[in-house]
Amino acid sequence: IKKIAVLTSGGDAPGMNAAIRAVVRTCAYHNIAVLGVYRGYQGMIEADFVELNARSVRDTINKGGTFLKSARSKDFRTKEGRQKAYENLKKHNVDALVVIGGDGSFTGALLFNQEHNFPVMGIPGTIDNDIYGTSHTLGYDTALNTAVEAIDKIRDTASSHNRMFFIEVMGRDAGFIALNTGIGGGAERILIPEEDTPIEELLQDIEEGHAKGKTSNIIVVAEGDKTGKNIFELKDYVEKKHPEYDIRVAILGHMQRGGAPSCYDRVLASRMGVKAVETLLEGKSNFMVGINNDKIDLTPLEKAIKGGSKLDMELVRVAEIMSV
Ligand code: F6P
Repeated sequence: IKKIAVLTSGGDAPGMNAAIRAVVRTCAYHNIAVLGVYRGYQGMIEADFVELNARSVRDTINKGGTFLKSARSKDFRTKEGRQKAYENLKKHNVDALVVIGGDGSFTGALLFNQEHNFPVMGIPGTIDNDIYGTSHTLGYDTALNTAVEAIDKIRDTASSHNRMFFIEVMGRDAGFIALNTGIGGGAERILIPEEDTPIEELLQDIEEGHAKGKTSNIIVVAEGDKTGKNIFELKDYVEKKHPEYDIRVAILGHMQRGGAPSCYDRVLASRMGVKAVETLLEGKSNFMVGINNDKIDLTPLEKAIKGGSKLDMELVRVAEIMSV
């Protein structure tokens, strides 16, 4: 291997820049050239490339987003798109590819490998933490800290005005952000996609809380929760039953995706970048770098994509006990 391409794909996540930097510097350390690909797979199809070296990634470890930019490419889902991308990589003498992204990006990487026998490695980058084979994805820790800080601020108003807040956090179909920020932010109730919460049960909990003398309430709602109602409908439902409650809604949204990566995410990105490149140099392909029990390890990409949820239900119990 003499030249490696690196790209970021899917939703951006804090720590992606640190991971690109780690890939580039590890390549420099081993005297390998690096080609940066702009806008994920779309840039690979359009040959939107930039040569990178150890110095071109200076001042990036502390920056949110991704300086290579990211996209969810529709064209790469077609065989023709992947063929074009392959030809462009070959034209630029690229021997292997590191993909920093989520499960959709890994699915693309695997297809690309199967069709063109091209070595690929995945680094999990998404705030959702919804990838099997790693306890933490890049950006997840930062997003948790951003969200919990926002919840703390909302709590000031909730307790000053004796209000109830429904706070929506991101996570797509996974409840990692909701469950952890709910516990960390002292939520009364946490609604996650992995658990069915009948709306009557939610109402009953809220009523019991009031009977126990709770004057304010934070309810953290994962965007993919299973109540079948959106957050405004949830508020309306509770409000109709209890017009005396003073209820507000806050949707944290994309602020959870931005900002400087936490120290944890920077170190994780650096470790993952080193492992991704050195695994390719060992002649291996089709793995995702992960971290488990603070040890960097590898999971076959296929397993990372299909492995299912790793959400620890012990946390659900902790949340329940904490809201006694
Ligand atoms: O996957 C990251 C994520 O932020 C999810 O939590 C969310 O469901 C989705 O991306 C939002 O996507 P977009 O930025 O395209 O609106």
